[in-house]
Amino acid sequence: MRAIITGLGHYSPEEKLTNKDLEKLVDTNDEWIRVRTGIAERSILDKAKGTSYMALRAARMIFEQSAVSPEEIELIILATITPDMPVPSAASVIQKELGAHRCWGFDLNGGCTGFVYALATASQFIETGRYKNALVIGADKMSCIINYEDRNTCVIFGDGAGAVLLEQSTESDRGIIDFDLHLDGIGIEYLNVLGGGSLHPATMDTVQQKMHYVYQDGKTVFKYAVKGMCSVSEEVLKRNGLSGKDLNYLIPHQANLRIIDAVAKKLRLTPEQVIINIEKYGNTTAATIPLAMSEAHQQHKFKKDDWVLLSAFGAGFTWGSVLLKWAI
Ligand code: UT7
Repeated sequence: MRAIITGLGHYSPEEKLTNKDLEKLVDTNDEWIRVRTGIAERSILDKAKGTSYMALRAARMIFEQSAVSPEEIELIILATITPDMPVPSAASVIQKELGAHRCWGFDLNGGCTGFVYALATASQFIETGRYKNALVIGADKMSCIINYEDRNTCVIFGDGAGAVLLEQSTESDRGIIDFDLHLDGIGIEYLNVLGGGSLHPATMDTVQQKMHYVYQDGKTVFKYAVKGMCSVSEEVLKRNGLSGKDLNYLIPHQANLRIIDAVAKKLRLTPEQVIINIEKYGNTTAATIPLAMSEAHQQHKFKKDDWVLLSAFGAGFTWGSVLLKWAI
């Protein structure tokens, strides 16, 4: 039994925050942002809306085209670091709004690797035969935890969502073929949001100290990201008897174009083999991979039997890869 992707959807808010807009907020410039990150603009969700709004839009795009209806969904996993509220999960909001009456589900915090973690997790429920399908979503409203006075972070992040429908298949050679996942708490000090949890509950003091915003030591995270994404990608390819030249597409986490280029170089990939959309969206955390995958699918990039490798790195540190043989 294999888990195969049978439907894809994505959503990006209409409101754009361009590099020129950011020049008015912090000491930065369009050229620096483009050269150092590859980003030109990012989408920003309406202040009054939560992450579930984007996740729902991405999920509904799937159901508009799928033979499976929300009532038939058995499991919802939402990868996010920006749920609508601490309790209950944003997966609850999605279940309610979709009318997915037969499912259970939860939010998963894997930082920027969240979607890769979620896809691997859901695949196991399907491969064991326990469930016929699962809705796996990556969505983040990063604009709600970004300090728009901090040029180290505000130029990078944006809001967005992507979703896939996973279904059971008896074909053994297509679908999710393998994955490799990692976690190392060495990253806690380099990428975090310290306020608002049980250790530092929200108080006037935590807010004054801006502890509810993302802190990132970009240089250090950059080095670990390149190392982690390269090693996990090579490991998954190697143990499946593949190398970079066998891959049809790499869909990397879109954190920085220079990280993507370094991974592509290590795997000896041509530009045509790498899906990149960071210029338009920036780093949408758990959403980057499903958003890029859905957009590329919409552009008819993938063919049946294509080898597709997903690779991500994020807060924790977390990192991981999923190897897919395209099934639709
Ligand atoms: O998705 C989760 C994982 N996250 C990542 O993978 C992100 C990894 N890190 C990065 O993408 C990069 O480290 C950043 C984009 C965050 C920063 O780029 P960098 O090339 O590492 O820049 P830097 O921090 O080393 O700074 C280089 C220079 C410094 O000036 P000096 O000291 O050389 O004079 C900074 O002060 O650029 C300056 N700088 C900026 N200048 C204009 C830093 N941020 C900016 C800015 N605009 N926004």
